[in-house]
Amino acid sequence: MIEERNVSRSPLAPDGVHLRGMRGSDIEQVSKVERRSFPTPWSTHAYVTEIANPSACYLVATVGDQVVGYGGVWVIMDEAHITTLAVDPEYRGHKIGERLLCELLREAERRGASRATLEVRETNEFAKRLYKKYGFDWVAQRKGYYSDNNENADIMWIDDMTTPQWRRLYAALRAALGLPPA
Ligand SMILES: CC(C)(COP(=O)(O)OP(=O)(O)OC[C@H]1O[C@@H](n2cnc3c(N)ncnc32)[C@H](O)[C@@H]1OP(=O)(O)O)[C@@H](O)C(=O)NCCC(=O)NCCS
Repeated sequence: MIEERNVSRSPLAPDGVHLRGMRGSDIEQVSKVERRSFPTPWSTHAYVTEIANPSACYLVATVGDQVVGYGGVWVIMDEAHITTLAVDPEYRGHKIGERLLCELLREAERRGASRATLEVRETNEFAKRLYKKYGFDWVAQRKGYYSDNNENADIMWIDDMTTPQWRRLYAALRAALGLPPA
């Protein structure tokens, strides 16, 4: 059973949030969100490499000049791999993570992906709930994948993003977020 929402809500309206491609000048702020979100944060150098990777797309969510969230995807052939997704703790619960995921999937499709995968900590119920909402299904588990606590990773997939069923789901979720049709 998933816990009830336990995030405090800031007065920020989601309308004040903008999404755009990550730039080198964002990395310091991205790393700050990263350190507040993950027990084993990526190095800043990893982001320098990632944003130069032509197979990758990294987005940031900003409020004014502040980076409040970010996410990334690799697209190789027809497969998208969501590599990371995080929202600053003070800004969680405002659909920022969902908007980032939604736009990463759109970008992945634009680059030719028709399926998508990710790894998520077995106990990360909030993230898993978000991914399930977008049609990611549990497929397998990697035992002891996370080095900090030996936690298992759940491997989730959207097996086919071209089915009418998934397209309807995705269109409805985009519309609910107030995003234009993909
Ligand atoms: C997972 C994460 C990115 C979600 O970002 P967020 O902006 O707070 O989430 P959103 O407001 O967009 O929520 C979207 C969906 O996620 C799920 N969710 C997110 N937070 C939740 C919470 N506190 N309680 C229940 N469900 C939650 C729900 O399915 C929600 O949809 P709903 O509002 O229709 O119920 C954020 O919690 C985070 O940064 N966590 C730490 C880093 C992390 O675990 N990243 C994922 C790595 S795989």
